[in-house]
Amino acid sequence: MKLQQLEIADVRSIRQASVEPGDGLNLLVGGNGAGKTSVLEALHLLAYGRSFRGRVRDGLIRTGAPALQVFARWTEQDSSRRRQVGLRHAGNEWEGRLDGADVGQLSELCTALAAVTFEPGSHALLSGGGEPRRRLLDWGLFHVEPGFMPVWRRHARALKQRNALLKSGGALAALDAWDGELAAAGELLDRHRRAYVEALEPQVEHWAKELLPELGPAHHAYVPGWRREDLALADALLVSRERDLQLGYTTIGPHRADLQLGFAARPGHEALSRGQSKLAALALLLAQAEDFRARRGEWPLILLDDLASELDRQHRHALLSALVASGAQVFITGTELEALALDPAWPSTVFHVEHGLCGRLDSSSER
Ligand SMILES: Nc1ncnc2c1ncn2[C@@H]1O[C@H](COP(=O)(O)OP(=O)(O)O)[C@@H](O)[C@H]1O
Ligand SMILES: [Mg+2]
Repeated sequence: MKLQQLEIADVRSIRQASVEPGDGLNLLVGGNGAGKTSVLEALHLLAYGRSFRGRVRDGLIRTGAPALQVFARWTEQDSSRRRQVGLRHAGNEWEGRLDGADVGQLSELCTALAAVTFEPGSHALLSGGGEPRRRLLDWGLFHVEPGFMPVWRRHARALKQRNALLKSGGALAALDAWDGELAAAGELLDRHRRAYVEALEPQVEHWAKELLPELGPAHHAYVPGWRREDLALADALLVSRERDLQLGYTTIGPHRADLQLGFAARPGHEALSRGQSKLAALALLLAQAEDFRARRGEWPLILLDDLASELDRQHRHALLSALVASGAQVFITGTELEALALDPAWPSTVFHVEHGLCGRLDSSSER
């Protein structure tokens, strides 16, 4: 996936920006507060329906503007089909267009444009609770398994209904019915996620070795969210029903699933340093990106925010040389070009991001 054009209007401090990215590394350079991260947020928004710094209505729209707009165009690698997505988002309402037609759901845009983002908050993927890891798994499945989205929706709906019933101390007959539905959808969801985690194994091992060789071989495991080795989900729900009724929510099941990542040189659950958490998160993200490429025939966009302050020179070099060799299109932000210490042989395009009157982005040909 290689963007040929990106237009941004009214995203944070950016009034209007027009970028024609290069095929390899795209470097967004500028001072603090210039709007570099905002460019990545705009791309992330098309790919995920939200920013990695929060929802659209929490400040993504430029102050004083009624709505933000993002437009991207690219050509599909295998079919040479020209694709384009456009989004106008006003915080609560939005309008999206995909290849010239209106879309009814934001997820339609997200299906078309795939991006993997590594940013200063990414360490939470490993150091925090399970939610971002479930989202990671589901993002991958969403893109590589066409049947996944309906299953995911069916499970989410059943869980919501069951929780509402538990909260209201609902009728047992209704609870029986939703337990059945939740168990059926949950078993399917579980099967998808388990197969996906298994398929990711070689990629996780590869990227962990590339980025964190000092921790020894990586091993990762899928945690289903209930004692699946002992109980079918329907039985587990029944067993926990009394407790769930007391608490007013569903305490077990695939909404509690998790992905564990461990390293041979870190037996037990010894904590990773913050730097190691970042690298391990990056390994997971790249493993997914590579799996995406293997199944879809092209790389997702790779967005790397503030790379020089996130990774030391050695890790940066390992990462970027692997990405350049892979042929992925990469967007990197940084305050100084020199600090990125790029290899002159790497194909790169530089963009200066400046606050200026209209937050203009100028393509530069200095490299
Ligand atoms: N809703 C908004 N409207 C206008 N300006 C904003 C808004 N939200 C953030 N900003 C400003 O935009 C800039 C944020 O840019 P950012 O992309 O984080 O910069 P960089 O990554 O280059 O440091 C800051 O100067 C911030 O004050
Ligand atoms: Mg920034």
